[in-house]
Amino acid sequence: MNKMEQIKILLVGAGGYAFKYISEFIDHPNDKVKLMGICDPYADKSVCYNQIIERKIPIYNTVNEFFNERKADLAVIVSPIQFHCEQSIFCLENGCNVLCEKPLCADIEQARLMREAELRTGRFIAVGYQLCFVSSIAELKKDIMSGKFGKPLEMKAIHMMRRGSDYYARNNWAGKIKSGNLLVCDSPFSNASAHQFHNMLFLLGKTMGTSTGVKAVETELYRANPNIENFDCMALRCETETGINVVYYTAHCVKSKEFGVFSEYKFENATITYSDNKYTALFKDGRTKVYDGIDTSLIQPKLYNVVDCINSNTVPICTVETATPHMQCVHMVQQNQIKPVSNVVCWQDGEVVYYSIPQLEEKLYNCYKQAALPCEIGIRF
Ligand SMILES: NC(=O)c1ccc[n+]([C@@H]2O[C@H](COP(=O)([O-])OP(=O)(O)OC[C@H]3O[C@@H](n4cnc5c(N)ncnc54)[C@H](O)[C@@H]3O)[C@@H](O)[C@H]2O)c1
Repeated sequence: MNKMEQIKILLVGAGGYAFKYISEFIDHPNDKVKLMGICDPYADKSVCYNQIIERKIPIYNTVNEFFNERKADLAVIVSPIQFHCEQSIFCLENGCNVLCEKPLCADIEQARLMREAELRTGRFIAVGYQLCFVSSIAELKKDIMSGKFGKPLEMKAIHMMRRGSDYYARNNWAGKIKSGNLLVCDSPFSNASAHQFHNMLFLLGKTMGTSTGVKAVETELYRANPNIENFDCMALRCETETGINVVYYTAHCVKSKEFGVFSEYKFENATITYSDNKYTALFKDGRTKVYDGIDTSLIQPKLYNVVDCINSNTVPICTVETATPHMQCVHMVQQNQIKPVSNVVCWQDGEVVYYSIPQLEEKLYNCYKQAALPCEIGIRF
């Protein structure tokens, strides 16, 4: 493709998070991208529906219908998790590169099929973990890879985001392990709070475009909300292929709207912490290096990085290979038993019903400080 050609886009999904992409395409039209069509069988439910109709953007029920009539250079897939694999592969086979929203797919076998399809078609599937596309995180990763901090010793993070009945009722797959016959594995770990865990594996990757693999996981999974199938609270310690412990705590059944992000990455010569949306490295000799702030709400860095990659015939920073270790962990975690929690508080804010584990913030923060699983330090839910 010639330099700076306008990239024709198919958007798969019109509601939910796709709102951000539609706003970008409609409110900030530019020479780099052109929205050719939207595929969503329920597009009329989208808050953007009137704008889509006003702009005469063609709507299709399936990706197949779109490709029967039109062409695209890039498919941006923001559909439910259970369709990512099939839709991504279909788009690759129709000559399109793909930007698939995280999580890559529902399980490790689907990740393998997606990688095979990338190799077979010579196109890429970029994955929308936005942190990977942020320049200050790329700088931090380069510093880690260059050995600036010495060897990594331990990585840990905690990030909890409250979710209530409106979140789980917005579709028919939130909080589910399976939706009909299709695997979804939707949980705070695979979906809403996936970023901080994925980022730790990504930062430990041997190259800019890879994440470290994982050998083993130990986890405790809890379900406080009795109306969901999967877990809504998790403590996890995994061992990477190079023997480093990566520890992560996340939950939706929490009283606070958001708790964290707190993270601490320990290296031989420095400790890197995250607060106020930025990373700071504190070296043993007292020096510090502060990285630029991160806005995790933006879609533009990932979208335009992928667009530039198509124009320059290069591969984006986060692809199937990069996202696969997280999928491996989702798969390994999902093999464990989920313990229902009986001591929960059910409360209401307006129409929205919440379930929360009392003092979960304090309890999991205590675990985080010690890099321990709750049972190991006598915390029982
Ligand atoms: N990167 C991020 O920070 C971020 C944030 C939120 C969501 N996401 C991801 O975006 C994806 C969608 O999540 P959501 O919360 O917007 O879900 P959602 O259920 O709110 O919206 C999904 C949209 O897909 C549509 N849809 C349903 N079946 C479809 C099909 N077969 N083909 C095309 N479209 C179909 C629905 O009608 C709906 O408009 C998930 O993978 C999620 O993890 C990423």
